[in-house]
Amino acid sequence: MGATSKTIQLFAFLLFSLSLVHLAYGNNFSAQFEIAWGDSEHAKVSDDGSVLPLTLDQSSGARLQSHGMYQYGRFDMLIKLVPRNSQGTVTTFYPSSDGSDQDEIDFEFLGNYADKEYVLHTNVWTRGTGHREQQFRLCWYVDDTPVRVFKNYTAEGIQYPYLPMRTLVSIWNGDSWATDNGMTKIDWTQAPFTSLYTNYTASACIVANSTANGSGSGWTPDCSTNTWFNKTLNSDEMKNLTWVHDNYIIANYCTDTYLSPNGFPPECYLS
Ligand SMILES: *[C@@H]1O[C@H](CO)[C@@H](O)[C@H](O)[C@H]1NC(C)=O
Ligand SMILES: *[C@@H]1O[C@H](CO)[C@@H](O)[C@H](O)[C@H]1NC(C)=O
Ligand SMILES: *[C@@H]1O[C@H](CO)[C@@H](O)[C@H](O)[C@H]1NC(C)=O
Ligand SMILES: *[C@@H]1O[C@H](CO)[C@@H](O)[C@H](O)[C@H]1NC(C)=O
Ligand SMILES: *[C@@H]1O[C@H](CO)[C@@H](O)[C@H](O)[C@H]1NC(C)=O
Ligand SMILES: *[C@@H]1O[C@H](CO)[C@@H](O)[C@H](O)[C@H]1NC(C)=O
Ligand SMILES: *[C@@H]1O[C@H](CO)[C@@H](O)[C@H](O)[C@H]1NC(C)=O
Repeated sequence: MGATSKTIQLFAFLLFSLSLVHLAYGNNFSAQFEIAWGDSEHAKVSDDGSVLPLTLDQSSGARLQSHGMYQYGRFDMLIKLVPRNSQGTVTTFYPSSDGSDQDEIDFEFLGNYADKEYVLHTNVWTRGTGHREQQFRLCWYVDDTPVRVFKNYTAEGIQYPYLPMRTLVSIWNGDSWATDNGMTKIDWTQAPFTSLYTNYTASACIVANSTANGSGSGWTPDCSTNTWFNKTLNSDEMKNLTWVHDNYIIANYCTDTYLSPNGFPPECYLS
């Protein structure tokens, strides 16, 4: 490996499989997303709306969020990561709910020198609590290979993400932690740093907060009746997951005490 710029077909198997709502806007970032941080110079959507470059320089990075909020579904994005020396930069794709006590599922691509591999950093947040980090060496594609599963142990008293989430994408300066534990800093002489996003699809159950608009309490529609709700990995996908964990994992909150200094959380003993 050790490639420079890689195109990653990211396939965030969030909680499940195919479903209700088809793309309403095709591949048009202008229609589907809004800027949450940065300006249109750092998030300059192509004229036809199909490509979103996110740029980091010393003045700013950028973050966009989808207008839509989703519960269960499959989310795809093609991402071309920052080429050449990208150490210290963080390129992300993650669903997250609004507010500070958020549910969130993180995919963060940690930059590196051109001759070293990117690291995929993942985390799962439930009601504002994270500390469930796993890192992987990037095998050419994430593609259709599942890299992480977070099981529903609600019955065992462990919180599970269910809050409606937006899709967020961002590029930011993470050189306080991202590369070599923060020892390696961004080389600003290489700026600007740009990651390209395209082919976003959300095959997902779109929900609205009906309390907010006075039509009821909770979220509508009820997504627990759609086909994504009970999605689990089949035996081939389980084999691929095991293969990734046997060969590519480099940090795991369930086995590395430095990631879980107060002890491993209960789900680590259940899988
Ligand atoms: C993309 O969406 C924007 C905002 O809704 C709209 O102005 C533009 O015409 C759309 N572009 C295409 C190619 O559909
Ligand atoms: C998943 O594993 C199977 C073998 O069990 C292999 O043939 C296939 O290429 C793998 N798929 C991916 C996307 O890695
Ligand atoms: C998780 O498990 C709880 C308790 O078994 C159940 O009520 C809930 O619907 C499940 N959620 C999902 C997304 O499967
Ligand atoms: C990305 O979208 C373009 C335009 O819709 C399409 O031609 C292309 O096949 C897509 N690429 C992948 C890998 O899905
Ligand atoms: C409130 O949200 C519900 C759920 O999406 C939607 O059906 C309804 O039209 C919304 N009402 C208003 C006034 O926006
Ligand atoms: C739903 O809307 C109500 C009323 O605006 C608000 O109090 C509540 O925090 C919202 N819930 C979520 C999860 O956003
Ligand atoms: C999901 O599984 C539960 C428990 O097995 C079942 O009651 C429910 O009908 C299933 N839902 C769907 C949409 O398949």
